[in-house]
Formats: sequence, structure tokens, C-alpha cells
Amino acid sequence: MLNPLSQLPSVAQPFVLSLLMTLTVTSFHPVHSAHRLPIPMSAYSLLPGDLNPHYLPKHVAVIMDGNGRWANQRGLPRIAGHRQGAKVLKDLLRCCKDWGVGALTAYAFSTENWRRPTTEVDFLMLLFEKMLRQELKAMHQEGVRIRFLGDLSELSPALQREIHRAMNQTAHNTAIDFNVAVNYGSRSEIVQACQQVAQKVERGDLPASAISEEMISQHLYTAGSDPDLLIRTSGEQRLSNFLLWQLAYTEMYFTDVFWPDFDRSAFHQALQVFQKRDRRFGNAKETIASVQGDISQTVPEPALTA
Ligand code: FPP
Repeated sequence: MLNPLSQLPSVAQPFVLSLLMTLTVTSFHPVHSAHRLPIPMSAYSLLPGDLNPHYLPKHVAVIMDGNGRWANQRGLPRIAGHRQGAKVLKDLLRCCKDWGVGALTAYAFSTENWRRPTTEVDFLMLLFEKMLRQELKAMHQEGVRIRFLGDLSELSPALQREIHRAMNQTAHNTAIDFNVAVNYGSRSEIVQACQQVAQKVERGDLPASAISEEMISQHLYTAGSDPDLLIRTSGEQRLSNFLLWQLAYTEMYFTDVFWPDFDRSAFHQALQVFQKRDRRFGNAKETIASVQGDISQTVPEPALTA
């Protein structure tokens, strides 16, 4: 997409951008409400000026909740909510990449979601397949590394084929990691990791006393990368069997916004809240808010993961 700022002389670009962000981004009311002024999406193509680039979460996880209620409110079938939700996820991925977040993990389908009406399950599975087919080329070009987390063996052969094609094709990309949890359940993930480690012990390759947290982490689908920020939409405040091990030190952010409405301005608010949190990892207090006053100063990058 052509950046209109690129038409300006390079010395003028930072000033025009900063004026645009002041007029649009920093002036809106922090609470997501129907009364705030609409912010043009173009204002969000770069990291908003009030966010500190040194304290962004490296890895964001999302529980995309509220698709059904969003659709009901509009008199639409539930699947319309999922379709809009997929568009929102696509834009959030691009936003994370634009703003410098290194990984996005999305809970797309839990092991419990099979209990939903067959028509809804079938629609979701076809939606995953269609999205992969349609978007793989663009995602690959943009440097997205795609991975699927979960027991993929229970998915249709066609979907498994698309998933493996996407994972293989993008395996060496480095711009951003995009993890999609499908047929995922955290407890069974932990059980599976324990079984794999136990097999090494059984074979005599590993003394039981050498089992470590690091080792269990390495046997999880996410293989060691824990989210810094978890976002759950639609007002629900529970983990629903998502990344129970990996979220041990993650900051939680719950919002009433339904997932299909979770746009860049809603993500901006989540990041504002994240940057005000004290992340201690069990250590003494060290607040990141203390460096918020002057984000232009060079601040050392803290280890955001434990
Ligand atoms: C929960 O909302 C949402 C889901 C179980 C499905 C989420 C899937 C997507 C947004 C599509 C993602 C697409 C790709 C390609 C990964 P809900 O249906 O439980 O909403 P409700 O609580 O309002 O009923």
C-alpha cells in the first residue's frame, strides 16, 4: 500500500506523522465507548506515539471471544461473527507486525469446541482452510512464520494438508510468528509433554531428577516462547484451558469489546494498559511506568519473559 507520507520531503515526514498522531491517536478518550471520535485506521499503521517501543510485549496471545454475541446483536447467524472475527485476526496480525510485536498466538478452536452444533464446527473448519488457501501467499511474502498448535490428527485431511503446507512454506520466515491453536487443550498438551519426557526416563536416557521446567516447556507445542500479554475479549475472565503453563507470568487484559470489534484502537488500549503494569516475575518492584515520562530516552530492554 502506498504510504501518503512518502510523498512528502523526508525531513517533513516525522513532523506530519507526529501531528497526525497527536490529532487522532492521543486525543481520544481511553475508554472504548460509542462516544469517542472515530480514528482513521491509517493513523494506526505505525506504532502510536504514546507507546514505548522498548516495552512492547514480545508475544501476545488472544482468546477471541464474543463472535456469537456480536452476530446475535445484529440479527445475523453466529457464523457471520466468526467470519468477521477472522478478518479482525488478520488485521491484528498485520498490526503486530507493523508495531513490532514478535509473536501472536490465537485460540481459534478448543478441544471442547467440538461440542458446538455441527454446522458451526464445519463452518469454522472450512474457514480455517479457506483463510489458509487465500492468505498463505500474502503472509509468506510478509515474512509471517505460521504454526498450528494442537492435536492436528483429528482435523480433516484437507485441512491438515493446508496446515502442513503453510507451516513448511513459512518455516524460515522471521518477520513475525503467528501461532493458531486449533483442537487445542492446555491440560492435554501438558500431559503429552510429560509422557514424552517420561518415555526418555523409561528408556534410561534421562534420570528423573534431571526433569526441569525448561524441559517441559520445550515439549509443549509453543516450545519455550511464553506470551507477555494475554487478551480475552467479550467480558469473560477465565483461561478456558488455554496455555495454562505458558501464562504463568503473563499479564492478563480483559475487555468487554466483542472480538469482531477488536480493532487497532482496542489493541492500542490493551498495550497502554500493559505498559502501565509492573512486571516483577517474583522480583523486587521495577516499574516500567517510571520510564514512560520520556520515551525518547534510551532505556535498556528488560527481559520480558521469565
Ligand atoms: C469464540 O466466540 C470464538 C471461537 C470459538 C472461534 C474463533 C475463530 C475465529 C475468530 C476465526 C479465526 C480464523 C482463523 C483463520 C484462525 P464464541 O462463538 O464463543 O462467541 P459467544 O461467546 O459470543 O457465543
